Amino acid sequence: MKRVAVLISGRGTNLQALIDAKQDAYKIVLVISNVPGAEGLEKARRAGIETLVIDHKRFGKDREAFEREIDTELGARAIDIVALAGFMRVLTPFFVRAWAGHLVNIHPSLLPKYPGTKTHERALEAGDREHGATVHLVVEEVDAGEILGQATLQIEPGDTPETLAQRLLPLEHDLYPRCLAKLARSLPESR
Ligand code: GAR
Repeated sequence: MKRVAVLISGRGTNLQALIDAKQDAYKIVLVISNVPGAEGLEKARRAGIETLVIDHKRFGKDREAFEREIDTELGARAIDIVALAGFMRVLTPFFVRAWAGHLVNIHPSLLPKYPGTKTHERALEAGDREHGATVHLVVEEVDAGEILGQATLQIEPGDTPETLAQRLLPLEHDLYPRCLAKLARSLPESR
């Protein structure tokens, strides 16, 4: 069983899906939010998972100091894998290198299309017929690491950014636990 920490910034529905998945490859032992009061923290507590708030605002412009604090907490708990789930901070090379191969993210587009934000808007503006979500390893370039899995939906006439986000979410919830379990199984026993 790999020990997983999940980093969140918001409501944490992907976190909930990772918690609820029936699998024996990983166990979520820590949830860290950079946003005090994030809804996902309550979801973690209800599941009996340790939570920490590390507010990036405390560190001003020193992004690495923020990440060093996260890294220290992860190290103290012998974390094997860090899963980003709606974590809305871009990570510096310091953190990405420290966790290379053990750091995974879910992104709401069919990467390599639409890294960054406003992915649903951009898919609609481009007139795409398909949209989706990607689970990928995190590298220094934003949303560019090795793809572990994707889920696809058809864009229908009348779709809006909101309907796309809503229809994509259950696909994300199915995709992320499967990809995380696959990654957990592929890694050596201890980090
Ligand atoms: C999800 O749709 C996830 O793909 C997206 O934020 C949402 C978080 O929802 N992630 C990103 O945009 C990362 N750049 P959740 O908090 O309910 O899991």
